[in-house]
Amino acid sequence: MEERVLSGEASSNDVSFEQSLRPQSLSQYIGQDKVKSNLSVFIEAAKMRKEALDHVLLYGPPGLGKTTLAVVIANEMGVNVRTTSGPAIERPGDLAAILTSLEPGEVLFIDEIHRLPRAIEEVLYPAMEDYCLDIVIGKGPEARSVRLDLPPFTLVGATTRAGAVSAPLRDRFGVLCRLEYYNDEQLTDIVVRTADILDTEIEWNGAIEIAKRSRGTPRIANRLLRRVRDFAQVRADGVITLPLADEALGLLQVDKLGLDHIDHKLLRGIIDKFRGGPVGIDTIAASIGEESTTIEDVYEPYLLQIGFLQRTPRGRMVTHRVYEHFNLEVPNP
Ligand code: ADE
Repeated sequence: MEERVLSGEASSNDVSFEQSLRPQSLSQYIGQDKVKSNLSVFIEAAKMRKEALDHVLLYGPPGLGKTTLAVVIANEMGVNVRTTSGPAIERPGDLAAILTSLEPGEVLFIDEIHRLPRAIEEVLYPAMEDYCLDIVIGKGPEARSVRLDLPPFTLVGATTRAGAVSAPLRDRFGVLCRLEYYNDEQLTDIVVRTADILDTEIEWNGAIEIAKRSRGTPRIANRLLRRVRDFAQVRADGVITLPLADEALGLLQVDKLGLDHIDHKLLRGIIDKFRGGPVGIDTIAASIGEESTTIEDVYEPYLLQIGFLQRTPRGRMVTHRVYEHFNLEVPNP
C-alpha cells in the first residue's frame, strides 16, 4: 500500500504521538456526543452497583477514536486497561493467559476484534457471559473439562467492520456504540486542543482549514496539524495561519475537500477506465494496485459519506459531484 498522509489507519509514529495527546476523560473527549452521554450513564450505574461495566463494542471507520474511548472508559471506571488485538491472539491459551491475569473490574481492549480466530472467540463466550473459562485437560478418553472462575471484567472490542463480527460474539456485548465522522466544528476544537498541547500557535482560520481537510477524522486532523506545523516552523515564523495552512496542505497534495492522490486515483480510475461505473470492488482494486479490503475499510467510507461514491448491486459508481469536483463534464445518463 502506498504511504498516505490521509490514511485513517495508525502508523507506529501515530501511536506514540496519539498517546500523548489522547483525552483521558469523557469531559476532555470532543465529539461523539450520543456515545458519550450513553456511556456516562452506563459507567455511573455500574459504579453505583460496584460492578464491572457491561461489555462494549465500538465500531466505525478507522481513526475516529475507538482506542481512545477504551482508555477513557477504563479511566472513568477507575481501572486499568489491557490492550491487545484480534490478530495478536493466535492460540486459545494466549487469551486464557490474559483473562486469568486480569484484576477485578479491569478493561480488556481487543482491537480489530473481527479478526479473532473462531476457536478463540469460543473461549470468549463463557468468559463474557459468566466470567469463567472452560479448559480441557488431558487428551483422548482421559480428557476432561474444568471450569475456571475469572474476575469480573469489561471487554471493550473495536472493529472497523461490524458486519464481520460473528453474530454470537456481537450478541454478547451489552453496549454497542457506532462512532460517526466528526463535523468541522468538532475537528477544529480538536486541532486547537492538540496545537495547545504541542505548544504551537495557531490562528482560528488555520485550524478550521486543517479541520475541513481532515475527512471527518481526528487522527488525520492531528497528523495534518503536525505536518503543517513543520511548514510553519521552517518556512514561516511558526504560527499556523490560514494562508500557511492552505499552502502547506496544497504541498501535501490534500485537496480542498481533504481528498489525496489515492482518492483521486480511485475516483479518476472509475471515470477513465470504467466510464464512471458501476464496477466491482475487486476490479477497481486490481486496476489501481490496492487491496479490496483496504479500499472498503479505509478509502471508501468517507467517499460514500460525502456522496462521491454510490454502492449499487452491480458495483461502485461515482456521482455527478465527482465530475464537478474535477471540473469534468457530467456525462448524459
Ligand atoms: N484527539 C483525538 N481525538 C480527540 C477527541 N475526540 N477529543 C479530544 N481530543 C482528541
